[in-house]
Amino acid sequence: MDAISVIRTKRDRGELSDEQIDWVIDAYTRGEVADEQMSALAMAILLNGMNRREIARWTAAMIASGERMDFSSLSRPTADKHSTGGVGDKITLPLAPLVAACGAAVPQLSGRGLGHTGGTLDKLESIPGWRALLSNEEMLHVLDTTGAVICAAGDGLAPADKKLYALRDVTGTVEAIPLIASSIMSKKIAEGTGSLVLDVKVGTGAFMKTIEDARELASTMVGLGTDHGVKTVALLTDMATPLGLTAGNALEVRESVEVLAGGGPADVVELTIALAREMLDAAGVKDADPAKALADGSAMDVWRRMIAAQGGDPDAELPVAREQHVVTAPSSGVLTRLDAYDIGVAAWRLGAGRARKEDPVQAGAGIEMHAKPGDTVTEGRPLLTLHTDTPERFDYALQSLARSYDIAAAGTDFTASPVVLE
Ligand code: URA
Repeated sequence: MDAISVIRTKRDRGELSDEQIDWVIDAYTRGEVADEQMSALAMAILLNGMNRREIARWTAAMIASGERMDFSSLSRPTADKHSTGGVGDKITLPLAPLVAACGAAVPQLSGRGLGHTGGTLDKLESIPGWRALLSNEEMLHVLDTTGAVICAAGDGLAPADKKLYALRDVTGTVEAIPLIASSIMSKKIAEGTGSLVLDVKVGTGAFMKTIEDARELASTMVGLGTDHGVKTVALLTDMATPLGLTAGNALEVRESVEVLAGGGPADVVELTIALAREMLDAAGVKDADPAKALADGSAMDVWRRMIAAQGGDPDAELPVAREQHVVTAPSSGVLTRLDAYDIGVAAWRLGAGRARKEDPVQAGAGIEMHAKPGDTVTEGRPLLTLHTDTPERFDYALQSLARSYDIAAAGTDFTASPVVLE
């Protein structure tokens, strides 16, 4: 077998055989297939697609490239959630302790942000002392003693995906449904969760811009999970508008704690409860009431124990950016659009995200939104507050915000999109 013949098969719109797929994933993981060859193959897959058999085999080969975790020693059923990524998507933070408070164990392997979407680990790292990197034994211990753990995937889990994802990120080949589906599902299946709820984002701030593409991604991932014995369900949710009223690391932790304290923005609370219900149902936990567990403080108790078990101080002051800049509403009326992509890019430019994998992020940087679509705004009153430690970034961030919102005349009939679409 050689890489050139595999690339030619897909370049010429052929089907890759099981043997070709197994060989190319294994050889790439071992360094025998070069990055430039794998990027040519990834581009051929992006342009010409893969059928269900090819995607299933590709996923199985990526799982087989590393170790598999096993949570069968736990006394509770396991449930995990994966979001395909968005702006202001802090849902994992309140959701993991909430589902644990309701009786399931939540092994949540999460990622860092890259580009305009935020990453759960970057957010949690704004809590003084909190550690994302745990050994497998530490992860199991935190999960067993608190009911939930949020940490980085170890190097041993689907190493083929780790290499391939970094390559796709710099070769314009992230947005291929077969590659996204196999990337996400190889990690989730190798992680060993018994059930999985997928939050497939749709809209300007998401990888999937249309509902049709989101449906295809969702059904491909549900099929992969089900074939590997993981009870998998998917919700399609809105990402045309950012979630909640903040985008940025410490800003989002603060908002998540508000949700755990029984408050917080309505859309974040609604999606957290909807996903919790799906996770508990998929895990077979009956008679739990996530709304009650938010209101009575039991989810907050799990959060505090989970943060402390990973070295964090749940009572510590969160970092605040050194500089703020307020954008005021240019007219009065009804806010009819607040674009998730533009807000995500602006937060990233302020320092909340990174341009290269090795870049540091600013814990306090990001954007506070003072109104969401459907709200009334008043000329001259604050619409957005920008936060950064490096004020020379304000101009660059403001360029992204110039066309990020629309305001219609007062009294305009407008209904905001629902959070859960399907
Ligand atoms: N998240 C992943 O883990 N992989 C992708 O390909 C896209 C989003």
